[in-house]
Amino acid sequence: MALVSAKDILVPAREKGYAVGAFNTSDLEISQAIISAAAELHAPVIIATSSSAIEYAGYTDLFNIVKHLSEHFGVKAALHLDHGADLETVVRCIKHGWTSVMIDASKLEYGSNVATTSEVVRIAHMAGVPVEAELGRLGGVEDKVRVEEREAFLTDPGQAQEFAQRTGCDSLAVAIGTSHGAYKFKADPRLDIERLADISQRVRIPLVLHGASSVPEDVLARAAKYGAKLPGAKGVPEDAVKAAIAKGISKINIDTDLRLAFTGAVRQILSEKPEIFDPRKLIGEARKAIKDVVKRKIELFGSAGQA
Ligand code: G3H
Ligand code: 13P
Ligand code: ZN
Repeated sequence: MALVSAKDILVPAREKGYAVGAFNTSDLEISQAIISAAAELHAPVIIATSSSAIEYAGYTDLFNIVKHLSEHFGVKAALHLDHGADLETVVRCIKHGWTSVMIDASKLEYGSNVATTSEVVRIAHMAGVPVEAELGRLGGVEDKVRVEEREAFLTDPGQAQEFAQRTGCDSLAVAIGTSHGAYKFKADPRLDIERLADISQRVRIPLVLHGASSVPEDVLARAAKYGAKLPGAKGVPEDAVKAAIAKGISKINIDTDLRLAFTGAVRQILSEKPEIFDPRKLIGEARKAIKDVVKRKIELFGSAGQA
């Protein structure tokens, strides 16, 4: 199937109460793993590319890989710019055929975030491309010991309502206690589900959860067994992910769990079969491991059978 707008994927998800995975790619094999998993489970999917992924693989190569695979596997997929830093990057992606963009101006003060996001929305909508924006800050929440400091990082529900109205963004990434990477919580994992419920009542567009990897025990254990050093790695428990979906999260971003799966698989084969030097045997194992993780996420998110 030709690439579709993320709006065609996320609006039904919000209406029906499931979430769609946005999985990060930067090469052929990761893209194959994600798209073949979605095909097997008849799930819609979002293929996310960060600026560094685009820098690594190039606009044209990434676009053609994802476009071809979606058509080849008959998958309902959107190609998405993850954490777009500025209008220039957004415009470049749109010109190269991306069907969804994010402008992440969440580090700016509120008024500048509104202004930057509104401008991106205006331009992207002229090309018919939907825009994800972000309000609140993901990183460092756990380090904030004072409650009021912690609160300042999380998305304010009233402000989210105003932000969505003023900017006209199509989906909104919220900060409710997650963060990027493999070290999300020093103590017990905690998401502010009540805050999410409040945001969800006021903001009716699809809501997005970044930093949602679970750092699954088996995936981490495999990587660690074969030499990865990731002490204290901790992710968002699957129950918390489910609770977030029940309160209106419609898009869930996953990168870290794919990276961990890749690493574990490559480490294992290198360690167990030191005679192997064919890259296809190494990366082929990684592709299998990533596909397994993606299938598990699709089942967890409830998007299987929704394409
Ligand atoms: O949100 C961040 C994603 O995990 C992408 O990370 O910039 O290293 O590609 P990256
Ligand atoms: P993780 O690091 O939890 O996989 O989050 C990825 C993400 O939010 C990409 O935008
Ligand atoms: Zn993110």
